[in-house]
Amino acid sequence: MRKINTPIQIGTKTVKNRITFAPTVKFDWTDSSGMPTERFVRHYEDRAKAGTGLICVEATCVIPDGRLAPSQLGLWEDAQIEGHAKIAEACHKHGAVVIVQIHHGGYNTHPACGPSKGPSAVEWREHKITQEMTKEEIIKIRDQFIEAAIRAQKAGYDGVQLHACHSYLINQFVCPRVNLRTDEYGGNTKNRARFACEIIRGIRQACGRDFIISARTVGAEPTVEEAWAIADEYIEAGVDYLQVSSGIGPEEINYPEGLPYSHIVWYGTKMREHVNGRVPVSVVHNILEPEMAHYLIENNLADTIDSARALLADPNWARAVLEGTGFVKCRSCKICFWSPFMPHKCPAVAERFNTDPDCVDYNK
Ligand SMILES: Cc1cc2nc3c(=O)[nH]c(=O)nc-3n(C[C@H](O)[C@H](O)[C@H](O)COP(=O)(O)O)c2cc1C
Repeated sequence: MRKINTPIQIGTKTVKNRITFAPTVKFDWTDSSGMPTERFVRHYEDRAKAGTGLICVEATCVIPDGRLAPSQLGLWEDAQIEGHAKIAEACHKHGAVVIVQIHHGGYNTHPACGPSKGPSAVEWREHKITQEMTKEEIIKIRDQFIEAAIRAQKAGYDGVQLHACHSYLINQFVCPRVNLRTDEYGGNTKNRARFACEIIRGIRQACGRDFIISARTVGAEPTVEEAWAIADEYIEAGVDYLQVSSGIGPEEINYPEGLPYSHIVWYGTKMREHVNGRVPVSVVHNILEPEMAHYLIENNLADTIDSARALLADPNWARAVLEGTGFVKCRSCKICFWSPFMPHKCPAVAERFNTDPDCVDYNK
């Protein structure tokens, strides 16, 4: 048996193999209620059924006025627990560990949902000037993250993942370029990590030792050394798992030449070296071929691999990695990236839809 098919301990839970479904939002599968529909249940169950070891449910907002779109999954009220419980139960039925990514858009909040607010007033994308949160607002949102995690636990999830990368609120606090605060939430590394660390400690206290707390963290913000220092803070605060991706940038990095994998995977491999076994570290980006997944695990470059598009294109991708079965490959066309209704118009899904009666058709 190859190493990717061996169990790994994350917190106090055992994940049966090293394949994780990375979070992928589906903005038009719910409405402004943020309630999970049956379509979500089936989508996640399909990936669990085909052997994915850990499922991370997509960016789920902790408060309506932090949403990226008027229709984004939510965990901001108790009424949403029941729908999430169906997702958790469906994944557990097939032996997967399932966590949910908790999220706030910060500066990237959709204008129809709330103000573009974050750590500081800065010039942001599209020349927008953002608003600075007061300390009271920071504490309120911190508590809303913790309350969302409590709801996630009530729904039966095994844990949560803090969305602390990709330029959203927690990442904005971490990034010295867009966090210009002079109070205890800005300045040195410890202060910039404080918002996330207070959330981590609050969740640990409320949800206990058996609840996984993962951070989807930055691999370079703006340097790998600074990203390591932030991750050290998260580990000290009590995270069980680091899943490494990209941040706001621009990154100040000289990548090694001729890498066989993407620079974002490289960040993860460097993070793993730095973390040195304190918690498992996952890598992501462009891992579309089963052999690349094996390579990263067998060369001890990563503890787990996160897959987004390969598993969107074909829910059976985990089985293909574990058992060598056939699969429909993501074409890396990037149509699914950043379109308002992603992941629409995936040609791989369209191909599968013609032959596989169980295929969920994103193109509808
Ligand atoms: C359709 C789509 C939706 C995504 N939604 C999220 C999300 O909810 N949260 C997140 O952290 N990343 C999100 N991402 C980024 C992916 O999790 C992943 O980091 C990225 O696609 C690179 O991995 P891949 O090459 O395996 O696709 C999304 C990506 C895609 C394509």
